[in-house]
Amino acid sequence: MLRIAVNGFGRIGRIVSRINAENSRFKLIAINDTIPSVDNMAYLFKYDSTYGKFPGTVTVDNDKMIINGDEVSVTHKASLNDIPWDSYDVDVLIDSSGIEQNVTDAKKLLDDGVIKKFIYTMSSENVDCEVIVGVNDNMIESGQRTFSASICDANALAHILQMIDNEYKIHSGSVTTLHPWLTYQNLLDGAAKGIAPDPNKYTPPHIKENYGMGRASIGAMIPKKTTAVTCTEKILTSIKGKLLSHSYRIPTSTVSISDLVLKTEKKVTSEILIPTIEEWAKENPFVKLNYEPLISLDYQGEEASAVIDMQWLQVENDLIKIVLWYDNEWGYSSRVLDLVEKVIEV
Ligand SMILES: NC(=O)c1ccc[n+]([C@@H]2O[C@H](COP(=O)([O-])OP(=O)(O)OC[C@H]3O[C@@H](n4cnc5c(N)ncnc54)[C@H](O)[C@@H]3O)[C@@H](O)[C@H]2O)c1
Repeated sequence: MLRIAVNGFGRIGRIVSRINAENSRFKLIAINDTIPSVDNMAYLFKYDSTYGKFPGTVTVDNDKMIINGDEVSVTHKASLNDIPWDSYDVDVLIDSSGIEQNVTDAKKLLDDGVIKKFIYTMSSENVDCEVIVGVNDNMIESGQRTFSASICDANALAHILQMIDNEYKIHSGSVTTLHPWLTYQNLLDGAAKGIAPDPNKYTPPHIKENYGMGRASIGAMIPKKTTAVTCTEKILTSIKGKLLSHSYRIPTSTVSISDLVLKTEKKVTSEILIPTIEEWAKENPFVKLNYEPLISLDYQGEEASAVIDMQWLQVENDLIKIVLWYDNEWGYSSRVLDLVEKVIEV
């Protein structure tokens, strides 16, 4: 069984660990987070305000968490360099701390042979390969050691954009994402900040300079820039520069929407497009179609990268409108685990 470790036991780290435990997929050897208490970490794993109580068992024994009877070592270090990796024998380290420095620090661990592969749960310029599973995982090569699983929005967008570009050639378009709040937002008004403890160091400029991102997140929709399209373009280079993008942070816990409007070079009608999407989706295990009047809550815990809502598909005056749903936590975390298998396979 593959041996994995998780650095950063926040929303993504815990959901990756939970999906892994629920499916007995890989052996989770170690967890690290700056949260100082293993009891608090176990509590957060056991009781999840979004997905409910963990359906297995979790207890604490000194500095270990026992998940479904399996011992997991827990540390509370701020740097990857301070964790006793040589005693763990880990195949794949998943870094869901959001700390870019860890991509660099991981290279030393890889050089020392204490981990075999490293996956970062964010887009990065410093990895050997950025992967959207099901779209470009054929680019993974055996010599590559550091990987990015891209971002949730790009995982949702890339599949349908790739198909439409292949079939009809995208001319131009626009993507609007509605994304639930994230842990670094404020309950009451304050300064805009990013994910890591040192906001000056880690906050991306598009967040730090958007003062609106520091406003009370409950009960407000906050407009912001998004990297959804730029991260998708990194992988689908043929659409580079063709799409506008915009985003709103919305006051929900999880489940996002991407609302796409596309103009294609080849003429498309709904009579052509609907059966094409239906046939294509049958062959794509990461995309689902919905025909029911569902709302965001119905997609909580959805493992697909994207669900195309066929009710809202429109084709008019050479424009295509597509609405995608995705659970930005559960769907994305499911792909991170898929990526673990793929990076080791090669
Ligand atoms: N939440 C999402 O929808 C989502 C989806 C895809 C990707 N991501 C990416 O995944 C990463 C984590 O996001 P999240 O939503 O889980 O955030 P989070 O705030 O819930 O989790 C981050 C965790 O990292 C821990 N941490 C902080 N500094 C640390 C350090 N020095 N060493 C180890 N752990 C440290 C924090 O205590 C926290 O538990 C980010 O890069 C984010 O962009 C998030």
